[in-house]
Amino acid sequence: MTTRDWDVVVVGSANADLVVGVDRRPGPGETVLGSDLATHPGGKGANQAVAVARLGGRAALVGRIGDDGHGALLRDALAADGVDLAQLTTTPGVPTGVAMITVGPDGDNSIVVSPGANARLGPADVAAARDLIAAASVVSLQLEVPLPAVEAAAHAAAGTGGRVVLNLSPPAPVPADLLALCDPLVVNEHEAARLLDEDARPAGHADSADPAGLAAALARTGPRSVVITLGADGVVVTDAAHAAPVRVASPRVKAVDTTGAGDAFTAALCLRLARGDALPDAARYAARAGAAAVRAHGAQSSFPTADELPEPG
Ligand code: ADP
Ligand code: NA
Repeated sequence: MTTRDWDVVVVGSANADLVVGVDRRPGPGETVLGSDLATHPGGKGANQAVAVARLGGRAALVGRIGDDGHGALLRDALAADGVDLAQLTTTPGVPTGVAMITVGPDGDNSIVVSPGANARLGPADVAAARDLIAAASVVSLQLEVPLPAVEAAAHAAAGTGGRVVLNLSPPAPVPADLLALCDPLVVNEHEAARLLDEDARPAGHADSADPAGLAAALARTGPRSVVITLGADGVVVTDAAHAAPVRVASPRVKAVDTTGAGDAFTAALCLRLARGDALPDAARYAARAGAAAVRAHGAQSSFPTADELPEPG
């Protein structure tokens, strides 16, 4: 058990999700009419902070929003779930990040992200949040904010005995010194396969049909541990305590909308690691949170409380 003040401090993005349903997407130069606009709080950083807090964890978000209505919406949503916002900075004259999402008739999303204030998050913000980060059991990172902020946060956490969890989303190359701090690196199977395409993929091995091989190959690229999420097929985990990759099942649920599943999963994983679980146990709990998020529409609106978690798979 930790004696630190915060279970999870998230250093990451906050976006307003602007969602419009369309019968078909416009081609170049074309206009189509869509449904009423729905505006939801989102962004991987804000989502994960909310998911931790909803499960009963002590969570804080280090990030940047603009001084506009979307920023106010995000602040309200985070505060309603009890996320600490002392290091969520309002950036004058810059719009809050938005994700412009069109949803097609089959429920498929097409997304354009305008990072806005998120793009202004830098090492100075991390320095200002030094005391908060030093008091965190786990610091949770993703790649929707500039890499220098992510690197600064990882080094600040590691330097004060915190555990660094990096969710490689959206996928991007990660410098070796950052990778070496990740415990674990969390990726979905598509991102994992892409990562290894750029690196040395072991010959005749480690395709996405072989998740354990993928995890083992990814572990050799430098992180302290690896978690690969496989959607309904569960999770595979590698760490120093286990000679072979450990497979964890997903609970069986009726999938309604997978939006937010990865964020719910990663947040729950961070929370259980903060509370002292071994990585496979944390992954087993996290799979229940990810599965809960696919049972309902949206991201934050689908995140469970601890009482709402489905039974393990
Ligand atoms: P991402 O959303 O990042 O692509 P995944 O789709 O792998 O990540 O989902 C993350 C986790 O959420 C999975 O490991 C699993 O535990 C849970 N999950 C996702 N989809 C389903 C599903 N259809 N049924 C049950 N659990 C799911
Ligand atoms: Na969802």
